Amino acid sequence: MDGNGRWAKERGLPRIAGHREGSASVRAVLKACAEYGVKFLTVYAFSTENWNRPQEEVDFLMELFGQTIDNEVEELMANKVKLRFLGRLQKFSPELKQKMSKAMEQTKDNDRITLNVMVNYGGRAELVDAVKEIVAEGRREIDENTISQHLYTKGLPDPDLLIRTASELRVSNFLLWQIAYAEIYVTPVLWPDFRRDQLKAAIEAYQKRLRKFGKTAEQIDAG
Ligand code: IPE
Ligand code: MG
Repeated sequence: MDGNGRWAKERGLPRIAGHREGSASVRAVLKACAEYGVKFLTVYAFSTENWNRPQEEVDFLMELFGQTIDNEVEELMANKVKLRFLGRLQKFSPELKQKMSKAMEQTKDNDRITLNVMVNYGGRAELVDAVKEIVAEGRREIDENTISQHLYTKGLPDPDLLIRTASELRVSNFLLWQIAYAEIYVTPVLWPDFRRDQLKAAIEAYQKRLRKFGKTAEQIDAG
């Protein structure tokens, strides 16, 4: 979710106004995904590197996460959304951690769509944590599945579509392992402006892609 700061700047507003508007985009995109039958939506809300932003902005984002949980859980329950926070959650304040676990516990049996919110998340940190667990378990036989099953995303399918807003042409440490074969869609639209119509355009673009997974186009055509 990129471009919140630029969205605010264009309007002469403080960056935090962009983050607030961005949270409305999460709500809109989640709703549209649920209606389209998407089963998993994963959003990158806060990276392991975002702690380096101005303290005021970091504090605001922490506040926003807490407030959003308080305000949205009821609606998530009504819409059967399973909410999960994935990342190095240890680093958050006890209050926020408590809110996150409570919201995850409350929504855990919802089955219409899963919303994964990646917080204090880094793809490299996730791989380090996975390797540590694998070593601690004393495993000798390691294959790709072993790695997948030790990531925060264990049990979830790899993403089919990766949407990158605000024209950024980099992965920024997001789901490094899981996006091996994801289709990438880059749009100039800033995240606070990314709503149902923009999601629809991204899905339509995705539907025109030919996913080959290393095979030739002829093999795919032959089924
Ligand atoms: C993304 O928007 C939101 C978070 C990382 C929390 P940015 O804040 O990175 O927006 P730009 O890049 O300054 O426009
Ligand atoms: Mg940015």
